[in-house]
Amino acid sequence: MIGERADALSLECYVIGGWVRDLLLERQSKDIDVVVVGSGIKLAEAFAQSLGKGTHLSVFRSFGTAQVKKGTIEVEFVGARKESYHRESRNPIVEDGTLEDDQNRRDFTINALAICLNKERYGEMLDPFGGVEDLHARIIRTPLDPDITFSDDPLRMMRAIRFATQLNFNILPETFDAISRNRERIRIIAKERIADELQKIMRSERPSRGWQLLDRSGLLDIIFPELSALKGVDTREGKGHKDVFLHTMKVLDNVAAESDNVWLRWAALLHDIGKPRTKQWEEGTGWTFKNHNYIGAKMLPSIFKRLKLPLNEHLDYVRKLVDLHMRPIHLVEDTVTDSAVRRLLFEAGDDIDDLMTLCNADITSRNEQKVKRYQDNYSLVRQKMVELEERDRIRNFQPPVMGDEIMQVFSLPPCSLVGELKSAVKDAILDGIIPNEHDAALAYVKKIAAEKGL
Ligand code: CTP
Repeated sequence: MIGERADALSLECYVIGGWVRDLLLERQSKDIDVVVVGSGIKLAEAFAQSLGKGTHLSVFRSFGTAQVKKGTIEVEFVGARKESYHRESRNPIVEDGTLEDDQNRRDFTINALAICLNKERYGEMLDPFGGVEDLHARIIRTPLDPDITFSDDPLRMMRAIRFATQLNFNILPETFDAISRNRERIRIIAKERIADELQKIMRSERPSRGWQLLDRSGLLDIIFPELSALKGVDTREGKGHKDVFLHTMKVLDNVAAESDNVWLRWAALLHDIGKPRTKQWEEGTGWTFKNHNYIGAKMLPSIFKRLKLPLNEHLDYVRKLVDLHMRPIHLVEDTVTDSAVRRLLFEAGDDIDDLMTLCNADITSRNEQKVKRYQDNYSLVRQKMVELEERDRIRNFQPPVMGDEIMQVFSLPPCSLVGELKSAVKDAILDGIIPNEHDAALAYVKKIAAEKGL
């Protein structure tokens, strides 16, 4: 239908970019981009008219683009263009161009493929840079000199790494070297756009690939120095600690294999972020990272802010998991007491299963016996959790005796004593002194109040 409209207007038009790439890769693709040699807006207007009622047309005259939406269909129209950029800004100087000019200015050969929509040449593939071959060989390569392509739009360095991760492709060595050379240019890119690429890396099947490529290219140092700081091993008196970056990569992939929850994946990436700041050599003990979970959790708000990740419940969730990630291991190192399990259930609430997924993923030792021992102990913890949860319903703990009732029974005004009595009840339940029930809790409050002379 687009082709017919274009023929009627004597305009050449092509479907181009991601849609063609995904068609050949048999991947689902959402947006269709159509490039028109001439006015994209004119063709969009004609196409929108032919779709009839319920069609939404948005025209962006200053960009020479237009978007047509009807139901789930979304087509972007743009005039073919030649583009070049100023070195210090991302504002391009745009001129009308041929299809080839338009393909030249695109990021990768696999994203520069075009299929003709005009009737006479319908379905003809225009592939001037060997994009189809690169798709088969699973290669990311720029159509032009990579220094030009990346310098024109430095976000493309992130995109190269993101596509390599998402599609499990390799970046051509010359292309990769250009990313390293141009890495400083990433600083001119808006953080939100970088964050979008990072999220796409995190949603991939094996996100560690992306982070490792970011590291090898030198981009990681610039965009996420705290993660870079996890790299390396110090040795003293023949004792080295593990490389926290490599360990983190394994934990991240382990979690990704178990869960699509992108925030659980972030928690895996960040679980040991506090280690470099807490690292100490202690005579007789060796390397220690005391309170790294707590310090790591405290680092997260500023990291999220700088990376432009959301400062909402997702941050709270990641912070909670990072803070609690050592608890199950401490639990199994001592004897697994009911009261410690109840306290963990109380603090983790509904995120307890995610926490246990993270902790299981955190076992990356190569010593099989050790792995088995930890896994068995975790199974024991899980079993205890189920038993205690059934009995005591700690996960979404609601105090069985409310402040209002306490005030009424003891004729108290709102005061700190009410809070103290409530918290004594909570502790007694978590410690297993009383069951999580109203009457038992009230009797307990009365007992304590009597001891306090009330
Ligand atoms: N493009 C580009 N340089 C960019 C962004 C986009 O050359 N920095 C071109 C590519 O040809 C790309 C097309 O514009 O295929 C559409 O871009 P976009 O929708 O951002 O990406 P897709 O390739 O469709 O992939 P995805 O939807 O996974 O982001």
